[in-house]
Amino acid sequence: MRKQIAAANWKMNLTYQQGEKLLDEILQAKTPLQSHQQVIFTVPFPYLILANSEVANESHYAVAAQNCYHKKSGAYTGEVSAEMLQSIGIKYCVVGHSERREYFGETNQQLAEKINLLLQYGIQPIFCCGEALAIREAATQNAWVETQLKESLFHLSAEELEKVIIAYEPIWAIGTGKTATAAQAQEMHEHIRSFLAKQYGANVANNISILYGGSVKGSNAAEIFAGADVDGGLVGGASLVAEDFVAIIAALK
Ligand code: 13P
Repeated sequence: MRKQIAAANWKMNLTYQQGEKLLDEILQAKTPLQSHQQVIFTVPFPYLILANSEVANESHYAVAAQNCYHKKSGAYTGEVSAEMLQSIGIKYCVVGHSERREYFGETNQQLAEKINLLLQYGIQPIFCCGEALAIREAATQNAWVETQLKESLFHLSAEELEKVIIAYEPIWAIGTGKTATAAQAQEMHEHIRSFLAKQYGANVANNISILYGGSVKGSNAAEIFAGADVDGGLVGGASLVAEDFVAIIAALK
C-alpha cells in the first residue's frame, strides 16, 4: 500500500519553545501507526535540527523543510540549499506551496529546478499544486493543475517521480475554513493520478501519495482521507494544536 501521510505545515508560526512543546505533546500521544503510515512535521528552518532530533527514535515520524532555493550554492544571501538540508539529515522538503508561488513569485520552472536539486541530495519533495477560486469558478482547475504537474515534474524519470509526494491544495480552501468536500478532493486526486498514469503508467501513478490540503481538521480528516485517491493531508492551522493534529494522525487509512 502506498504511504498514507499526515503532514503538518507550521508555516511562519510558533516560537522555538512553543514548537518544542507541541512536538513533545504530539509524540507523547503515541498514536498507533501501521507500517504504511507516516507523520511529517514541516517546520521553520531554525527548528529543523531540534525537530529532527525529537523524532530520531520514532520510526513513523520525520521532518520536512518548508522550502529550499533553486540554485545549488553561492551568493544568494538568506537562502537555504538542498545540500544544506541534506547535511543536517532532512528527508523531505515542501516545494511550491501556493503561498510561495503567490508572495514570492515562484514559477513552475523554478520549482522543477528545486525538485531536481532535492532529488540529487536524496530529499523527497512534497510538491504542492492547486487552483485559485477564479479558476475553480471557471471550471478550469483540471487543466491548471495538469500544467503545474507537467511543467514541474514531467521531466523526471519514473524512478525519480516515485520519490515525489504530491499535495493538492486548492487555494480557496487554505486557511479559509472552507474545505473542499470529500467528493471534490477525491475527484481532483483521481484526476491527478490518471494524468500521472498517462505519462508514467498506472503502476508508477499508483505508488505516489497524493495528500489533500486546505482546512483539514480533526473533525473532517477521516471523511476526506476516505477517498480512494486521498493519501492523507498537508495541514496548516490544525497542525498547531496537539489535540487536533493527533486526531488527524489517527484518521489516516
Ligand atoms: P490550512 O490547513 O490552515 O487551511 O492550511 C493548509 C495548507 O496550506 C497546508 O500547507
